[in-house]
Amino acid sequence: MKTLIVYDSVFGNTEQIALAIGDALGFKENVVTLRVSEIKPEHLTELGLLIVGSPTQGGRPTPAIQDFLDKIAKPTIRGINVAAFDTRFSTKLVKIFGYAAARIADSLKKNGGTLLGSPEGFFVTGKEGPLKEGELERAANWAKVIVKGKM
Ligand SMILES: Cc1cc2nc3c(=O)[nH]c(=O)nc-3n(C[C@H](O)[C@H](O)[C@H](O)COP(=O)(O)O)c2cc1C
Repeated sequence: MKTLIVYDSVFGNTEQIALAIGDALGFKENVVTLRVSEIKPEHLTELGLLIVGSPTQGGRPTPAIQDFLDKIAKPTIRGINVAAFDTRFSTKLVKIFGYAAARIADSLKKNGGTLLGSPEGFFVTGKEGPLKEGELERAANWAKVIVKGKM
């Protein structure tokens, strides 16, 4: 069974988080981390765990991630473990718009996925980054905790 980490990233911060998660789960066999634009149908077969991450833009995932979520077939997700993350500002002001991770998680659950852990956000210090100090380590830890005892 494969673990697939799908992400989108404009300035590279979400990519760094996705790669840190991939590295952290590297103890498992068959972990693949891919940008959403690279996903082909064969990447979505025999999935054991699907992790989807996006920058938060206007409280939502990017259009490319939203499109991926909208188009993914229900049988691909039904019964498999899923998890969601985003990158975001740490200011309270943006809270009213919500964040990408919760919306990604809702979509994956609606399609029958079993959500592991809570959707998580990782902080950038500005629109283009960089990530707040310690966020790569926090992402690696989040990934290890959500898969613990599940895989
Ligand atoms: C058009 C746009 C809208 C954004 N909207 C939000 C938002 O609603 N909430 C938030 O926390 N961050 C917002 N941000 C900041 C992004 O989350 C930040 O650019 C992203 O984490 C960087 O990740 P990336 O380098 O992978 O693109 C926005 C950024 C852009 C460019």
